[in-house]
Amino acid sequence: MAQTKALKGFKDILPNEIHLWQRVEDVARDIFRRFAFFEIRVPVLEPTALFVRSIGADTDIVEKEMYTFNDKNGDSLTMRPEGTAPVLRAYVEHALHLKSKVARLYTIGPMFRHERPQKGRLRQFHQMSVEVIGAAGPLVDAELMAMAHMILARLGVSAALEINSLGCPDCRPAYNKALVDFLESRRDNLCDDCRRRLDKNPLRVLDCKNKKCRAEVEESPAITDFLCLPCGDHFAAVRAGLDAMAVPYRKNRFMVRGLDYYRRTTFELVTDQLGAQSAVGAGGRYDGLIESLGGAKNTPGIGFAIGMERLVLLLAANEPGQTPGIDLFIAGLGAAAGNYAFRLIHALRGIGISCAMDMDNGGLKSQMKQAGKAKAGHTLIIGDDELATGQAVLRNMASGEQRPAAIDDNDINTIATALAAEIQPGA
Ligand code: HAM
Repeated sequence: MAQTKALKGFKDILPNEIHLWQRVEDVARDIFRRFAFFEIRVPVLEPTALFVRSIGADTDIVEKEMYTFNDKNGDSLTMRPEGTAPVLRAYVEHALHLKSKVARLYTIGPMFRHERPQKGRLRQFHQMSVEVIGAAGPLVDAELMAMAHMILARLGVSAALEINSLGCPDCRPAYNKALVDFLESRRDNLCDDCRRRLDKNPLRVLDCKNKKCRAEVEESPAITDFLCLPCGDHFAAVRAGLDAMAVPYRKNRFMVRGLDYYRRTTFELVTDQLGAQSAVGAGGRYDGLIESLGGAKNTPGIGFAIGMERLVLLLAANEPGQTPGIDLFIAGLGAAAGNYAFRLIHALRGIGISCAMDMDNGGLKSQMKQAGKAKAGHTLIIGDDELATGQAVLRNMASGEQRPAAIDDNDINTIATALAAEIQPGA
C-alpha cells in the first residue's frame, strides 16, 4: 500500500494553525530587526563531519539522533540537527568577518533529530536560531538573553530564564575531575545512561531527568565554584547586564546543555507547561568553535535557538484554531455569469482583494456552501438576471445582510474598485 501517513515525528502544519506560526515568526523577525540581526539561510544537508566536529562525537545528538546517510557519491551527509554549525560554516566559507566586525545572524527553518517523539518533541522540528560571531564581551550574552525574553514576552508566553557558566578549557578540567571523583563514589546508584556518561561526558550526568540521578547529584560540586578568574568575572558581568535591563533570571548550576561546543555562559528558557519538554529556547557561548571549523583564531561566538513547535503549543493552549478566510467569494451562476465572474475576480485580485470562485460553475446551493467553507467575508451572487439588470447581490456572510452591487459598467476595473470599497471600507 502506498504510504499515506507522514513519518513518525514528522508533522504537517495545517492551515488552521498556521496563523500561530506566522505570528511567532512575525514577532521574532520584528525583534531581530530591532536588535540589528540579519537573516541567513543555509542548507538542510551538510557533511556529517561538520556536526560531529562541532556538536561533539560523544553527545546524544551525534551518537543516536542524526539522520545520516551516504549519498550516491558515497559521501556521508546529515540532515542538520541544529542551526549553529551550518551558520558558522557559512560564516567561515564566505569570510563574513570581512563584512563587519561582528556578525549578527539569524535563521529560521526545520531541524532533524531522531528522538522519541512526544508532546513538544518531534523528529522534524523548527528553530529560530540566532548567532553573534566576533563579540567576546559579557554584555552580548545579556543582550541575547534579553532578546529571547522580549520575543516570548511579546507573544505573551511566560518562561523562566535560567543561566549557568560552564567555564573554559582552563578551568573546566579541574571541575570535571572533581565531578567525576564525586560521581564515581555513587556510580552504582546512577542509571545506565549516566554510568556511561560518567566515562564519556560526565557533565551530562548533571541534567539527567531520572529522579534517582537527580537526588545523587544534588550534593555534587558546583561548576561555578571552579571558574577561573576571567570566567568568574565574565559570569558576574553577564548577570550585571541582565540586572541593568531588569531581565529576571535564576542561576541553575545543573544546566549543562546537550551540545559540547559551549563555553562560559549557557542559558535556557524553561516552562512548566509542556510536560517533560521544558525548554522553549536555549543557547550559550561557544568561543573556540569557529576556530575549530577553520575560522580565524580566537573568534568568539554566542547564540541561542527557540523551538517553534513548543512556542506554538504554548500559544495554542490559550486560543482555538482558526481557519483562514478570504475577502470575497463570487458565485457566478451559468456560463455567461461564470465568464463575467472570471474576469471580475482577476481584476479584484489585481487590486489586493483575496477572492475565489467555483471554476466548475456549480449550482447556487453548492456555491454558497463553498463560500461558507472558504470563510468568505462577502459573497457576490451573479446570475443571468443580475447580468441583464447590471445589479448583482452582495451578501455579508456574517450578518446575512444583502444589498445590490453594480456590475453594469463596461470597465471591469471600475466595477472591481467599487466592489473593493464596498467590502473593505476605509482600506
Ligand atoms: P538545543 O538546546 O539543542 O540547542 O535546541 C534549542 C531548542 O530547540 C530547544 O530548547 C527546544 O525548544 C528546541 N528543540 C530541540 N530539539 C527539539 C525536538 N526534538 N523537538 C522540538 N523542539 C526541539 C541548539 O540547537 C543550539 N544550536 C542553540 C544555539 C544556537 N546555541 C548557540 N546558538
